[in-house]
Amino acid sequence: MEFESVIRERQATRKFSNKEIEKEKLEKILEAGRIAPTAKNLQPIKIYVVESTEGLEKIDKASPCRYNAPIVLLVCGDKDIAFAKGDYSTYEMDACIVATHMMLEATNQGINNIWVEMFDEKVLREEFNLSNNLIPVCLLPIGYKTEDCPESPMHNTRKELSELVEYK
Ligand SMILES: Cc1cc2nc3c(=O)[nH]c(=O)nc-3n(C[C@H](O)[C@H](O)[C@H](O)COP(=O)(O)O)c2cc1C
Repeated sequence: MEFESVIRERQATRKFSNKEIEKEKLEKILEAGRIAPTAKNLQPIKIYVVESTEGLEKIDKASPCRYNAPIVLLVCGDKDIAFAKGDYSTYEMDACIVATHMMLEATNQGINNIWVEMFDEKVLREEFNLSNNLIPVCLLPIGYKTEDCPESPMHNTRKELSELVEYK
């Protein structure tokens, strides 16, 4: 896909079908995450590909926002590896860049997706046995949308550039 189409056509999907994601497509999505930039190139990231029935049930315990997706990428930042200055750490920023790369590559592969921050961190931590250094940053449910999947309600609601940008 043209890059312009990828960034314009991506939209939040909230109704996934049971159709499986092709292995090659999933690998391309994960590869896009692997090559994402991170502070000092420290790559403080762990991505869990949750695809088993048991794993998806665990996601459902932690979040109401899987929307029937057959795969959820659980993206974590690693506090022990990330660049840090005093209390400040880039783990969250790094994880968001990695997740954004994967979200856009998913769109590029024709795989629908949604960014989800509505999850119970404690439940995720317990269900996936996460070590203390790993902080869940987002969930990315991915898959094929259903034929009757509604348009994302706010997809075309954006501020004008003039409200966001100021030239100095
Ligand atoms: C950081 C972030 C967190 C989000 N969390 C959720 C969520 O927990 N549940 C959900 O249904 N949508 C979530 N979304 C999707 C947004 O609501 C959606 O991206 C926004 O309304 C714009 O619509 P669009 O993605 O279709 O352009 C999230 C998006 C972002 C970027």
